[in-house]
Amino acid sequence: MMFQIKNLIFKSEDRTVLSLEGYSIEANNHLLLLGNSGCGKTTLINLLGGLMRPNSGEVSFEGTDYSTLSETAIDRLRAENFGFVFQRLHLIGHLSVVQNIALAQHKPDLSNIQILITDLGLEGKENQKARDLSVGEAQRVAIARAVANTPKVIFADEPTSALDDQNAENVMNLIFGQAQKTGATVIAATHDARIKNRFTSVLEMSA
Ligand SMILES: Nc1ncnc2c1ncn2[C@@H]1O[C@H](COP(=O)(O)OP(=O)(O)O)[C@@H](O)[C@H]1O
Ligand SMILES: [Mg+2]
Repeated sequence: MMFQIKNLIFKSEDRTVLSLEGYSIEANNHLLLLGNSGCGKTTLINLLGGLMRPNSGEVSFEGTDYSTLSETAIDRLRAENFGFVFQRLHLIGHLSVVQNIALAQHKPDLSNIQILITDLGLEGKENQKARDLSVGEAQRVAIARAVANTPKVIFADEPTSALDDQNAENVMNLIFGQAQKTGATVIAATHDARIKNRFTSVLEMSA
């Protein structure tokens, strides 16, 4: 099992934001977290990705329970296994496309960056500053950055919610294209039911 969740509870102040008794995610079983705004999708992505700790319960990845790991060990697990496409892209505006992608690599690999630039249709933009990119280009850089370490898991939070049908289609093609190429598992969160048919599992969430 890739991920295992048991009796997971995340609270903010006294409010229970997320409660999930049990859930398992198998490798190559692409999972969509689907539900309305505020139902806890981003929270669950953050818990699975080891970016936040729950109030109680267990999240484990490949048999390792995060609660047994130090912050440094979780950081390492994340860097070695996960890539993230966040809702807000978090590119560094004054750095170039190549520099933004390179920042995500724990081992510098310029030839892989060049392949990603080609795969994601960013040729000619290599040295352009991130702040001067169009929204679509910036999103493609964010995808390149997420997969720059060939992660086992690609997390994508609302990858298509701001996009029209054609661009939503394109972005999902890029994410799944990269996943297929490297054997990665995709875990995405959205309220956008348009992309549902791409996934092998759907976890319907409600607040
Ligand atoms: N760290 C936090 N501090 C305070 N409130 C939070 C925090 N994380 C999430 N919430 C609240 O929890 C609920 C679920 O948030 P979120 O996971 O972002 O939902 P979704 O991604 O499905 O829209 C929201 O009401 C949000 O305001
Ligand atoms: Mg969200």
